[in-house]
Amino acid sequence: MDNNFDLVVIGAGPGGYVCAIRASQLGLKTACVEVGKTLGGTCLNVGCIPSKSLLNSSEMYHKAQKEFNNLGIEASNIKLNLSQMMNNKNKSVNTLTKGIEFLFKKNKITYLKGKGSISSKDTVTVTDNFGKKTRYKTKNIVISTGSVPTSLPGIKIDEKTVVSSTGALSFNKVPKDLIVIGGGYIGLELSSVWKRLGSNVTVVEFLDRIIPEMDKDISAELLKSLNKQGINFKLNSKVTNISVVKGRAIVDFTNNQSAKRERIECDKVLVAVGRKSNINTDISQLGVKLDSQKKIKVNEKFETSIKNIYAIGDVINKGPMLAHKAEDEGIAVAEIIDGQAGHVNYDVIPAVIYTSPEVAMVGKTEEQLKKENIKYKLGKFPFLANSRAKVNSETEGFVKIIADEKTDKVLGVSIINSVAGTMIAELALAMEFGASAEDIARTCHAHPTHSEAVKEAALAVDKRPIHF
Ligand code: NAI
Repeated sequence: MDNNFDLVVIGAGPGGYVCAIRASQLGLKTACVEVGKTLGGTCLNVGCIPSKSLLNSSEMYHKAQKEFNNLGIEASNIKLNLSQMMNNKNKSVNTLTKGIEFLFKKNKITYLKGKGSISSKDTVTVTDNFGKKTRYKTKNIVISTGSVPTSLPGIKIDEKTVVSSTGALSFNKVPKDLIVIGGGYIGLELSSVWKRLGSNVTVVEFLDRIIPEMDKDISAELLKSLNKQGINFKLNSKVTNISVVKGRAIVDFTNNQSAKRERIECDKVLVAVGRKSNINTDISQLGVKLDSQKKIKVNEKFETSIKNIYAIGDVINKGPMLAHKAEDEGIAVAEIIDGQAGHVNYDVIPAVIYTSPEVAMVGKTEEQLKKENIKYKLGKFPFLANSRAKVNSETEGFVKIIADEKTDKVLGVSIINSVAGTMIAELALAMEFGASAEDIARTCHAHPTHSEAVKEAALAVDKRPIHF
């Protein structure tokens, strides 16, 4: 094999593999190095995809048990077959990771199996499973090595009793009692899965609210809904210790306000307190600069402090740790390497939490605008007044549109509802085109759809909703 490339991408997650495909489309001779057994990174193997499979299956199970009767569907003897549910999840993951291998072949991308390290600014060394090292010369390098779960000081994740999301996606038995540390994306999605499958779930969150990055009203509405589903919450609580005794965990935590100490015993603990950049080769020796959080510093062209070495995705000091952000950066950096003007608009990156109801947002929240001293007006519309949501018995939640007080330009949108994750795309597109609330209000929305609530919220910005 010819060991000279125009571009070597290190890491084949959503950032890296998309970057490799775009670069190859542009005619660059491209290789992609991956240390994992399969392509796709965290997202496909142990993140977005397997969690969505379990969220979907567990929701069906829950509905079959609790909601079918109301609809006139009499189903009896509904039983959980966890190993089949896991097999189904694994099948989806396998199909999708194999799909990327197919796309690599189709695009003539060289798939280098092993651990990549940067030996010099134009050399990547790949160490395979047997320890054999091969050097590849390249004009450009993109680092897209993603992120790994963080833990708490002194708390060891053993992936048996104290697990990260990876362990919690593969329990072979439904834990009777599950404690989840962290009320963010991962904590709430996996709490939902295991609660529906029968666990007694308690979420311990350090702050006074769940999903702290999201709109405050949305966070309160989701908390109300998850409480109703039977998930217990200990807010304002700091975990001080976890000990494992005979395969069971004892979790100690202290209330931040009252200083009251509590202790809960459980079968499994999921630690979901965030992720950190995955920098597994000593790139700082080469002179690649990191920020105070150990993320790679890049400029607007994704260039690191070393010429021709670029970085994208969770590993950089820009934007949220989200798969679709990394994908867009992958496309942009490939185009920049090709001499084009690749660009990512960080003001319009949607974020979705796939709980039931789902939560989605794009742009700014009220809290952010207040901090930035930007004057705004807002329109809110509840799904209780949306006909499609009503017939589907999905009336929880609302759409909240925030627009500039003077120009009416949409600055941010938050949605909580069963299909919020799908609905948010319309708003991202509207914002990308610089839409005003009036533009959305005057756009014809099909009836009966959940999306009519978007039109109504836009009308509500000007205090003229029709159905509320
Ligand atoms: P997160 O940042 O979403 O949430 C972590 C939570 O843990 C926060 O609410 C934080 O206040 C809390 N916390 C921190 N220290 C704590 C302590 N000592 N005790 C109790 N609570 C504590 O992080 P998470 O859920 O681990 O997810 C990591 C990343 O993965 C996220 O940034 C997200 O971007 C990504 N992700 C995205 C998903 C999606 O797009 N649907 C799904 C899953 C993960």
